[in-house]
Amino acid sequence: MRRKLIAGNWKMNGLLADGVALAAGVAELAKPRSHKCDILICPPYTLLIETVRAVTGSSVAVGGQDCHAKVSGAHTGDVSAQMLTDLGCRYVILGHSERRADHGESDALIKAKAQSALAANLTPIVCVGETESQRDSGKTLEIVAGQLKGSLPDGGTAEKVVIAYEPVWAIGTGRTPTLDEVQEVHAMIRRESGLGQGLRILYGGSMKPSNAKELLALPDVDGGLIGGASLKVEDFWAIATACP
Ligand code: PGA
Repeated sequence: MRRKLIAGNWKMNGLLADGVALAAGVAELAKPRSHKCDILICPPYTLLIETVRAVTGSSVAVGGQDCHAKVSGAHTGDVSAQMLTDLGCRYVILGHSERRADHGESDALIKAKAQSALAANLTPIVCVGETESQRDSGKTLEIVAGQLKGSLPDGGTAEKVVIAYEPVWAIGTGRTPTLDEVQEVHAMIRRESGLGQGLRILYGGSMKPSNAKELLALPDVDGGLIGGASLKVEDFWAIATACP
């Protein structure tokens, strides 16, 4: 039985005071440990240390939103996987469609980053997903399978890797695929990844309190990667408690 993972992707949002308050609010709600899922928050780099402090002693894990593929060196502005581990992070989001688009990240680069994450003892959350025109032309499964093939790390296992399926057109738009469409892609990801029944596959893209329950009830949806709705404690918690 896979334990679901509810992960908040804060993206480039939050200054110190609101970030710490948000993290502390989530940690407080998670304290009784009555929730049925793992909880993760991924703030921007600037808030990582204070977020780790704010959730210490709770069951909430902290992750980064990206890392460099190298351990250290002349890479101005970058942060390595080992630096994230050093701060107390346990996960790192990699290959988010915003990074693929804004920074031209390729599958090969994402794979290299995922390998560096594994080497640093971080669980990579590898993101894949089709654009609207790719979906409209019936290419979703082919595109997502190709991204998976190119970006999954060598030597990954179901315990050490998480995959997030995020249709690009569903991110921040309020639109989502149908439940059948989500299940179809997740089942394909499980099959093509070769990582088996223990692999956790998150759905991301406009997941919110009003649709979380039905999405999280799908057989191959093992949690959510949540953007906008992770910035409000009540909404994020409503999604976490929607886990069956
Ligand atoms: P959204 O973002 O929940 O705001 O659609 C999800 C994501 O990009 O991870």
